[in-house]
Amino acid sequence: MVSRFYVTTPIYYVNAEPHLGHAYTTIVGDALTRWHRLLGDDVLYLTGTDEHGLKIRQAADAAGLSPKEFCDSIAPKFADAWERLDIANDDFIRTTEPRHHAAVTELLQRCYDAGDIELDTYSGKYCVACEEYYTDEELLEGDNCPIHKRPVDHFEEENYFFRLSRFQDRLLDWYAAHPGAIVPEFRGNEALGLIRGGLRDFSVSRTSLDWGIRLPWDDRHVAYVWFDALTNYLSATGFGDPSVDYTERWPVDYHLIGKDIIRHHCVYWPAMLMSAGVDLPKGWAVGGWLLVDGEKMAKSTGNVVNPLDLVDTVGVDGFRYYVLAETSYGSDGDFSYDGLVARYNSDLANNLGNLASRVATVVGKSCGGIGPAPRDDSPLAAAAATAVADTSAAWDAVTPSRALEATWSLIRATNAFLEANEPWKMTPGADLDAVMGDALEALRIVTLLAWPAVPSTADAIWARLGLDGSVADRRLPGDARWGGYPGGLTVTKGDPLFPRIRS
Ligand code: ME8
Ligand code: MG
Repeated sequence: MVSRFYVTTPIYYVNAEPHLGHAYTTIVGDALTRWHRLLGDDVLYLTGTDEHGLKIRQAADAAGLSPKEFCDSIAPKFADAWERLDIANDDFIRTTEPRHHAAVTELLQRCYDAGDIELDTYSGKYCVACEEYYTDEELLEGDNCPIHKRPVDHFEEENYFFRLSRFQDRLLDWYAAHPGAIVPEFRGNEALGLIRGGLRDFSVSRTSLDWGIRLPWDDRHVAYVWFDALTNYLSATGFGDPSVDYTERWPVDYHLIGKDIIRHHCVYWPAMLMSAGVDLPKGWAVGGWLLVDGEKMAKSTGNVVNPLDLVDTVGVDGFRYYVLAETSYGSDGDFSYDGLVARYNSDLANNLGNLASRVATVVGKSCGGIGPAPRDDSPLAAAAATAVADTSAAWDAVTPSRALEATWSLIRATNAFLEANEPWKMTPGADLDAVMGDALEALRIVTLLAWPAVPSTADAIWARLGLDGSVADRRLPGDARWGGYPGGLTVTKGDPLFPRIRS
């Protein structure tokens, strides 16, 4: 039976254009799902845009457009950025779509029917940038938002509330029964800390706003943007469409999120699902922030880096590799241009690029351009088996930097093997063929393992090795077993994959 694998990114607010932080999460999800595509899983990788709420309404007003016109002008920029970064999302959801409207209506009605949504009066402080309410204790001096460091607004209006306070025990019991559901573990502990710290009911509707989805039982109110947004993960499965069995896709395997939205995803969302009688997610993978000069990159901070500018320097795969390898997923990472170039030069130009070029050069000069077959008892076979096992374990744990470290260990072992044997000094013959067959086979395995991170480079190396088709058609672990390179194929050198960048 084919296993299903469903992964989501946050849906990004369309008040900002796609930046490095959005790209980071989206690339992690892309590489993770590509790994599962190689395993033969039936993958659904979902991303999209968050288009309702006050923040978007205000951004549209400032642009002199209707909210829908404004969203229509920005959402394609996300879709285009993901296409340029080789993101293979299977679906792109916009919260202004009818399928999403249907799902939100259904989920609201279920929670209301369960008695967990009730009318009350809200009086308090609200940060529009967060689309979140704050207590006085949470605010910084001068009623400033702790994240955006800007003054919050005071609101007083009739709201419907979701009775989150009733869910503390149920949530704690659920997480206790599902250890490891949130990775990495220290981020899971943050979520548990929020739950243990006590849960406040949260408002799920507004009357002072019209840009959103109306409550099915009271059309004076529109749904709170977070209730609306979280539901996107169900909308894409067909939830709310009576002709579809949404459990074909649900529950999700991993929600990828940044640490800024743990409360919404790991506290609000599971409680909403419990109330509605929907199964809970199987997992959450929480990333840290990419910092620029020690500050979270964000539109409101004004330190935004456009990923597409970086691609001009290091290429799409250079950029993808950097964000995956540089930071341990879950922890904060520092973005710097120098770091990007240093990693490109060391891991891509000097290691992977150099290996591919050396192998093709020697085969061209000394093997008549035809790649020899590897030895069964090659000294590289053990390193290859270890790299496959470790890379696999690391993707299972959603630790991309460890996965690439494991894959690159085989690149380093193969370069060291070539330096020890110096095939460029050997005379053509059986000994030389043996060394080159082993190196070609190691490079073939590297190519399979590296594909989730650097797909177009992997496909280029695959073709240069004389192998057919695309890496996407290969299957792990079978195709990564030592001995798969048949020999007798035409090897081509091609242009340098990663020309060195002067820093
Ligand atoms: O919060 N470093 O959308 P958003 C790393 N619409 N990741 C970053 C980042 C940074 N500097 N900046 C952003 C929202 N991200 C809601 C989500 S989901 C139902 C609704 C990434 O546009 C990170 O994944 O503010 C973070 O959680 C997400 O973008 C927030 O994007
Ligand atoms: Mg944000």
